[in-house]
Amino acid sequence: MSEWLEREKSVLLPTYSRYPVVIEKGRGTKLYDDKGKEYLDLFSGLAVNVLGHCHPRLINRGKRQLDKYLHISNFYYCKNAIELGEKLIDRSFPGKVFFCNSGAEATEAAIKYLFKIGVKEGRRGIVVIKNSFHGRTLGALSATKMNGVSQDFPSIEYPFYEISRRQIDEIEDLFIEKQPLGILFEIISGSGGIQVFPEEELLQIQRLCKKYDVIMVVDEIQTGIGRTGKFFAYQNFPIDPDILIFAKGIGGGNPLGGIIVRDQFDGYFSPGDHGTTFGPNPLSTAMGLETLEVINDEFLCDVKSKSQKLIKELQLLKEKFPEQIGEIRGLGMMIGVEMLIGSKKDYDGMNYIQKIQYNFIEKGILVNFTQGNILRLLPPLIIEMKEIQEFVKTFGELLADYSAS
Ligand SMILES: Cc1ncc(COP(=O)(O)O)c(C=O)c1O
Repeated sequence: MSEWLEREKSVLLPTYSRYPVVIEKGRGTKLYDDKGKEYLDLFSGLAVNVLGHCHPRLINRGKRQLDKYLHISNFYYCKNAIELGEKLIDRSFPGKVFFCNSGAEATEAAIKYLFKIGVKEGRRGIVVIKNSFHGRTLGALSATKMNGVSQDFPSIEYPFYEISRRQIDEIEDLFIEKQPLGILFEIISGSGGIQVFPEEELLQIQRLCKKYDVIMVVDEIQTGIGRTGKFFAYQNFPIDPDILIFAKGIGGGNPLGGIIVRDQFDGYFSPGDHGTTFGPNPLSTAMGLETLEVINDEFLCDVKSKSQKLIKELQLLKEKFPEQIGEIRGLGMMIGVEMLIGSKKDYDGMNYIQKIQYNFIEKGILVNFTQGNILRLLPPLIIEMKEIQEFVKTFGELLADYSAS
């Protein structure tokens, strides 16, 4: 066991349950630990490293920026931020952008923006979806309705109305009864177990938003930047969000987040209403610009065809091991595999999921589980077919071992 595990325990607050892997470096789809062992990274820093680790174009762009300046404050104009804002609008809808440093901060910005609209328009309240995740700062946490995340913490004094994905039919009643100002949701729940909103439900939400003047806010923090085979996940469906929240992949591995506000809702923020020292970060926006250049239409087509291949292979595994694999769901390179925990067997003090994760690590593959039993695959979008096959082969071998045991 690496000494770093003990050293961390004595110095860092224990906010994370980490895998016993100390990372030394990353290249492409691979991470290497401090003993030199290679791992195939199938969750890309939780959907951040869309172009893998140390992508040469990102590194070069970053180095060029480091030679110019690293931080200048918000008192000056930053060309990168302006250009990135223009490009994000080109890739989404006409509007204006605000940049910050993380997903939670981006959610805060969206909530504050809605709040400002509400003050002027005399409306309050946001509808949010059960088992959603929008971040861990207190505002974002108030919008996050997930067990094991918001416990013990106060909510901000603002109405958040919770509705489950199964109750979308009842949303009209909620809109009539509460007259909320906005609705906030993820197209695919990331931490909530990779639940994809069906198109008809999205269309229903959009229709009702228009009918009752409710602002549609889409959290694309995990789904955005090419992850689903479209630049933003909402573009897989005929819907038009009013406010879009982004983060994670946009900074090319550097902290960066923000919101896009549709033109129709421009004009509610003035100087002093919102801000952050590090946003827009010149290095993150430089790497973001390069990221956008790489993720062109051809790149997105490739993401889709690799995704089809991966889903097909997973379906074959499901046919072979129906007692272990349940639903397979997702879009593009955001895929959830439901693991059926048939036996309560103890594997050297580990449950089935912990054991499977441990076995993957042993075999040099890093995967993530969410909601207890959902294998959440978020590989770098540059993953190659042969790496997909390597993963599926290893997964099949593990499932066969469990079937036999
Ligand atoms: C959908 C979604 N929203 C918000 C967040 C919060 O982002 P951050 O961790 O950068 O604050 C996350 C992070 O996982 C997320 O997946």
